[in-house]
Amino acid sequence: MKLIVVENYEEMSRVAADKIKAVVNENPNAILGLATGSTPVGTYKELIEMNKNNEIDFSQIKTVNLDEYIGLGEKDPQSYRYFMNENLFNHINIKKENTFVPNGLAKDIEEEAKNYDMKIDELGGIDIQILGIGSNGHIAFNEPADALTSGTHLTQLTESTIAANSRFFNSIDEVPKTALTMGVGQIMKSKRILLLANGDSKADAVKEIFSGKITSKNPATMLQMHKDVTVIVDKKVGELIKNN
Ligand code: GLP
Repeated sequence: MKLIVVENYEEMSRVAADKIKAVVNENPNAILGLATGSTPVGTYKELIEMNKNNEIDFSQIKTVNLDEYIGLGEKDPQSYRYFMNENLFNHINIKKENTFVPNGLAKDIEEEAKNYDMKIDELGGIDIQILGIGSNGHIAFNEPADALTSGTHLTQLTESTIAANSRFFNSIDEVPKTALTMGVGQIMKSKRILLLANGDSKADAVKEIFSGKITSKNPATMLQMHKDVTVIVDKKVGELIKNN
């Protein structure tokens, strides 16, 4: 595992976008695994800028997203599909039909989950997966639990995740309690993984990724079993990791 400590959020976003650019420029047909949340927004802004300056071409790129809330459709401003359209897809030269986000409105969620995994395999797998991390160590919506699920699946969100994500909603009661998420096994199949973490609240969870111990109580610790993971953290998180 490689740790990159950067000065601040802006530098994290630039470094992450540069890494994605390198993958895309090497393989214009690359499959990008994308994440939502506040963390990757700066990276997406950098990618939009690069696209405007003709430094990166998304015309042949395909993307797969990690997760989606159950019950929220693409027109719902809180859905992850809406988030991706607003924060990236609407501003770059990607074909919408080449962007995949699990369908939170699917009638048969199990079928949707199975098809999503099949789709990723059919595309040839993810070349680079971007990840944020929850303060409890969740990646995508794989929450701390006694056992983790490998493939895409329906999951119950923990109280702490519902509380953390309520900042995007009018009230905590509006936060969906369930989501469809790529499983840890599917994430681990990605050829490369880039995890971004900034802010003190992430430090404890990130520190455990470097502990040498793997526990389902912190799903991100699984990443230690992957051979190509880069973790980018801001200075504050970097110091907290080193001093503990
Ligand atoms: C959500 C998403 C995760 C994301 C996490 C952290 O729960 N499902 O993919 O990593 O939030 O979000 P933020 O980047 O806003 O801290």
